[in-house]
Amino acid sequence: MAKNNNSEFATKLGVIAATLGSAVGLGSIWRFPAEVQENGGGAFLLVYLVCVLLFGIPVMIAEISLGRAGRSDAVGAYRNIHKGGSWWLGGLSGVIASYLIMGFYMVVVGWTFEYLWDSLTGSLYSGITLSDPSITDTIFHDRMEEYICSDWRPLISTFIVIAINIGVLMMGVQKGIEKVSNILIPVLFGLLLIFSGYALTMPGAAEGLKFFLAPDFSKISMPMIANALGQTFFSLSLGMGILITYSSYYPSSTNIPRTSIIVSLLTMVVAIMMGIIIFPSIFSYGGDIHSLRGTTLVFVTLPEVFAQLPGAQVWSVLFFTLLLIAALTSTISSAEVVISFVERRFKTSRVMSVLIVMLPLCLLCALSSLSFGTLADFKIFGMSIFEFLDNFTTNFLLPLTALAGVIFIGWIAPRTVLRDQITNNGELAKGLYPILDFIIRYPAPILILIILISGLI
Ligand code: PHE
Repeated sequence: MAKNNNSEFATKLGVIAATLGSAVGLGSIWRFPAEVQENGGGAFLLVYLVCVLLFGIPVMIAEISLGRAGRSDAVGAYRNIHKGGSWWLGGLSGVIASYLIMGFYMVVVGWTFEYLWDSLTGSLYSGITLSDPSITDTIFHDRMEEYICSDWRPLISTFIVIAINIGVLMMGVQKGIEKVSNILIPVLFGLLLIFSGYALTMPGAAEGLKFFLAPDFSKISMPMIANALGQTFFSLSLGMGILITYSSYYPSSTNIPRTSIIVSLLTMVVAIMMGIIIFPSIFSYGGDIHSLRGTTLVFVTLPEVFAQLPGAQVWSVLFFTLLLIAALTSTISSAEVVISFVERRFKTSRVMSVLIVMLPLCLLCALSSLSFGTLADFKIFGMSIFEFLDNFTTNFLLPLTALAGVIFIGWIAPRTVLRDQITNNGELAKGLYPILDFIIRYPAPILILIILISGLI
């Protein structure tokens, strides 16, 4: 067991804050309610929870073990553990996944920035009368549609958030961000708690909760399971090389299973609280649940909730600030995966590496932002550029990368790697090891493979 002195306590908190900072982001706050809405409500929640508990946590443990044993960037970690073969490609696909995810994620961070700005100036709430909830709903809905479909405004805010990322990444400061997220993540939890408490008192709360919590088993299908697994990987930052990179900084005393369980459970709690906030509000404000595009949910329904509260602007500013910070602690971690890889591989300076990675990203983000407006008719496999980047990474690349990770740790790396990492070289209890070893070697790869293949057919 770890000793209880101050420095170790601080380290443990730091490890959890950093990992949680990467995990808690738009995935649980923006993407999760959208997925629930598009996949039939409670049944999706149920499948998601099962996926996190059965696969999310073991895969997280596998990736963190890989990173702490390999002690390098995502590609280097594979090479340090196993010299020959092409397994390092598993690390490379994590690096690519991180990059492509930023291609659409930054755009949503840009929307968050715009909504924060409009909350600060008050323009988001100007002209809103609360007499008729369905009119309020239409106004916020139309504003969002008009905003994301326009060419320049979303692009400008996306470039601003990329610039913020570049600024922080160039300084190479990770500590500041970790300290900030140490304070802000608990505040985010506090706010979510207040908002969900309020949402429960809304007139449509019961109906909303029924949609969110009561599973309709007829909605469970292969594509839906694939989406739930994709959401599991996305929300826990699996298959992106992030955990491999971060865990290379974990002290050797970190209890990997415990850290993974805490991070996963807290991420699930955030997602559940978001559902408790969003669905009662949709049903209360008369908005038709099926008329809203999932991607716009948070930006339409939350301002509606805020508009009802005294001090709407203050709540709105608080929420979008925290959402922005939660998102930035995620984007910085994914950008770092790519930057540190470039830095090591091409031996470029820090500043050069940041620019090499982030400048082309502006182009990719511009394409996915414009795919709501000018480029709406440009389809890849029937999807807009934004939807394609989201679906291709989440439902294909993340599971593929995670599959490589579990096969590598379960079958290719020496058997001692997983055992030593889980038990801290025998210091921690060994009880969990056989179960985790079994899941990582058999059900996890088999199921990920089945779902991957079924998604392709
Ligand atoms: N878990 C993160 C989230 O939910 C995933 C992520 C990390 C996405 C980094 C983008 C960048 O937001």
